[in-house]
Amino acid sequence: MSDTLAIIGGTGLTQLPGLTISNAHDVQTPYGSPSAPILEGELNGYRVLFLARHGHPHRVPPHQVNYRANLWALQNLYATDVIAINAVGGITRNMTSQALVVPVQIIDYTHGRESTIFEGELSGVTHVDFSYPYTESLRQLLLKSAKEVSEPVINGGVYGATQGPRLETVAEIFRMEQDGCDLVGMTGMPEAALARELKLRYASLSVVVNPAAGKGEGVITIKEIDENLAAGMERVKRIVETAVNRFYTE
Ligand code: HPA
Repeated sequence: MSDTLAIIGGTGLTQLPGLTISNAHDVQTPYGSPSAPILEGELNGYRVLFLARHGHPHRVPPHQVNYRANLWALQNLYATDVIAINAVGGITRNMTSQALVVPVQIIDYTHGRESTIFEGELSGVTHVDFSYPYTESLRQLLLKSAKEVSEPVINGGVYGATQGPRLETVAEIFRMEQDGCDLVGMTGMPEAALARELKLRYASLSVVVNPAAGKGEGVITIKEIDENLAAGMERVKRIVETAVNRFYTE
């Protein structure tokens, strides 16, 4: 079977507009159930898989997402490439609210999450290379697609994955900045690592929905997150639609 693109929608993207759904797959995996049925359909005539990371309607918090089941299920439906949409807080100067970012690196601060498919009695190699956590060809696809629809996107940045579900303290963000993080989110890991273990190509399109703790004025409000999310996701949808076209025609 030829390459198939899957989209994992995050907070603010629980449905993919324009997707003509032909199937909703209830996939059972060795790790349990995915966050939601995996939607299979066509976008502009091209086969696409879509999964709402937090379920649909939104309900599974970041630390309780069954990342292993999600990725395994997508692969089971023959996904080869995964574009992940992530809402994030902005840490460094350019990462202002509503900025769209295609990050290039990850630092993982999560804990206690099921983060590998390599468990139990194993016969093969279990150490995958993860030097470059995102797949460059998919990153480029996102960047070119954004350019095609004239949406400014920041190329690069380090995604710091935190455990959540609470937001961070000012000191935690200060430390993350010193570590080199540009963005902070709760869903980037172990998703990216599991994709690598499963040999799925993977990239993230991240949407900054608030200045990280201590980086804006006062405290972080859900109102500002929601407003930035709504505006940012409209732009994400345009880019994703173009990315789907390019993926199958390039
Ligand atoms: N921190 C962690 N995750 C997030 C944030 C944040 O500030 N904003 C959106 N997701």
